[in-house]
Amino acid sequence: MTRPLIAGNWKMYKTPSEAEEFALELKKVTTYNDRDVLVCPPFPALACVRKILDGTNIYIGAQNVYPAKEGAYTGEVSPVMLKDAGVHYVICGHSERRQIFGETDDFISKKVKIVVEYGMIPILCIGETLQQNEAGETFKVVEQQLREGLKDISGVEITNVVIAYEPVWAIGTGKNATPQQAQIVHAFIRKTLKEMFGDVAADIRILYGGSVKPENIDELMAEIDINGVLVGGASLKIDSFSRIIGFNKVRSLM
Ligand code: 13P
Repeated sequence: MTRPLIAGNWKMYKTPSEAEEFALELKKVTTYNDRDVLVCPPFPALACVRKILDGTNIYIGAQNVYPAKEGAYTGEVSPVMLKDAGVHYVICGHSERRQIFGETDDFISKKVKIVVEYGMIPILCIGETLQQNEAGETFKVVEQQLREGLKDISGVEITNVVIAYEPVWAIGTGKNATPQQAQIVHAFIRKTLKEMFGDVAADIRILYGGSVKPENIDELMAEIDINGVLVGGASLKIDSFSRIIGFNKVRSLM
């Protein structure tokens, strides 16, 4: 059994002072020891959030990384810096980075690799666009992003990688994949991971992301191949995020 991971991706929201206030609240409501909780603040807020969450069971993640130890890369942040800042997880290849900043599978694979090399856990994001979904290309797109993104990862390293399936059409739209739709793609991802890495695939955490909210978390988490969630908008408010963290697995009565 994999340990569920509930992760909040704050994207470009929250100043350091807002993040500090949120972290204090989060600390009060996160009292579970059967699940992992993660927040990924913007870079300027990492230090203050870490200070508040140090010694709790809430992990800190970064939303991005540059795949080099150091160098003349103005505006970028290295894995060494993240490690030193107390970061445990790094989101790699989020669809917003693919779409807005033109990140390719090859570039993303370098990020995944370097994050593992520096002892942190990459969260490799994959997922199809609405157009690809409507053209029936979901499996093809997801498989390519998975195989390319993990091309330099060994059978040992894969145990320290998390995959996030985030259909682009569900991100920030309020329109989530149904738990059944997500489960079908998650099962396909696990099958592909098994082809690539063998039986360890059973233990790899596959998160769902895209309009996760208090209303759908319990049903999503009840699906066998959904091992956690990557939450955008609903991770910015303490009420909704704490409800998501406190999920109960229930199957829909529908
Ligand atoms: P929303 O939860 O706002 O749809 O965002 C999902 C996401 O992109 C998380 O990385």
